[in-house]
Amino acid sequence: MKAYTTELSWRVIPQYNTQNKFCLLVLIIFTLFAVFHLFTLLSLNMKTSDHVRDSARMKKKSCDIFSGRWIPYPEGPPYYSNESCRSIMDQHNCMKFGRPDKEFMNWRWKPNECELPLFNPAQFLELVRGKSMAFIGDSVAYPEDISHKYSLDSNYFKRHFYADYRFTVANFWSPFLVKSSNADNGHSLNGLLNLYLDEADEAWVNEVENFDYVIVSAGQWFFRPLIFYEKRQVIGCHICDINNMTAIAKYYGYRMAFRTAFRTLQSLKNYKGTTFLRTFSPAHFENGDWDKGGNCVRKRPFTSQEMKLNGDTMEFYSTQVEELRAAEKQGRLKFRLLDTTEIMLLRPDGHPNKYGQSPHKNVTVNDCVHWCLPGPIDAWNEFLLYVMKTEDQRWFETLTGS
Ligand SMILES: *[C@@H]1O[C@H](CO)[C@@H](O)[C@H](O)[C@H]1NC(C)=O
Ligand SMILES: *[C@@H]1O[C@H](CO)[C@@H](O)[C@H](O)[C@H]1NC(C)=O
Ligand SMILES: *[C@@H]1O[C@H](CO)[C@@H](O)[C@H](O)[C@H]1NC(C)=O
Repeated sequence: MKAYTTELSWRVIPQYNTQNKFCLLVLIIFTLFAVFHLFTLLSLNMKTSDHVRDSARMKKKSCDIFSGRWIPYPEGPPYYSNESCRSIMDQHNCMKFGRPDKEFMNWRWKPNECELPLFNPAQFLELVRGKSMAFIGDSVAYPEDISHKYSLDSNYFKRHFYADYRFTVANFWSPFLVKSSNADNGHSLNGLLNLYLDEADEAWVNEVENFDYVIVSAGQWFFRPLIFYEKRQVIGCHICDINNMTAIAKYYGYRMAFRTAFRTLQSLKNYKGTTFLRTFSPAHFENGDWDKGGNCVRKRPFTSQEMKLNGDTMEFYSTQVEELRAAEKQGRLKFRLLDTTEIMLLRPDGHPNKYGQSPHKNVTVNDCVHWCLPGPIDAWNEFLLYVMKTEDQRWFETLTGS
């Protein structure tokens, strides 16, 4: 199967995947999203007639896949390795950089009421045949310089087209969802940024209208020093250290960014897609803050007794879910939740820590924000596929076991 990559310029560059076919595509730039096509043609013989059902059966509820626990999965890692998949970004490539323990790959999410099926690439590709999917958001990113590095790097704005399925997947890198700019000249790790809370980021607004699925996420960037604007006027700031400027909580900025993003989607005349919110992805720094030597050295998941949602994670999570629910009430569009915050909170063992870069570099900051690949976020694909199937008549029955 061929994957064509089209950059923003729409210059078509054929990009043949010459590597092991276990790994068709790992799009890990913003939200992780991976498709593997081991069985593509084997299991496509599903007969739609088998899936015809009466409306009474359709009333059957699908299971709450987001309530459950991590259970040992000794057969893991199930999908790929750093050898079979060569498109893992260094930042996530913990095995390449010598992470010694492997147990973190050997867990699977077990919902209380049912089984969460493994990611089935054939089913996925069948579902998205002729469709398009866009990711809007951050890279589950570090507080890094926003200015040049990303806006000029076409990796952050890529489209891939799978000709065999006429399936387009695109990334629109937009860590705040709303318009932002540098507020000071020093592009330091913790530089001050302007955030225009009532203006959606052009990086995605002008692109997203014709997509069938849009997956929105945002998080860690809101911890930075930020100056908030509404109607182009400064309304205050978050840890900006500027005299006389009103202090405004980051939660306010976070709420308004999601509100603006969802309202903007609703206002786009031609947008008829399903919008997914992939909820806040928590960091796991222990023994200090991220810039004060904090690290994440655990080797096993928490149980839900050991770790509860609280603090910033709780606040960010409930804020964005409230905004999604409010958007849903407007009625015109479908909004769906990929409710992974609490699930990921239980995985302090899944971050790169110091194995997200070459050991020969002088590591100044451990990475307890991004996630190792393979790793716990491979489950995000399983959740996404499950939720997409509940939305699709043809597949609903396979989930409810009828
Ligand atoms: C994959 O990881 C192993 C260690 O588990 C390492 O020896 C090898 O060089 C890595 N390969 C690539 C291509 O990164
Ligand atoms: C800011 O505060 C200082 C003293 O704290 C005052 O002298 C100055 O006029 C204030 N500036 C503005 C724009 O309010
Ligand atoms: C790492 O830091 C040490 C001491 O600060 C320095 O001597 C060395 O050159 C640095 N190495 C790299 C690759 O930057």
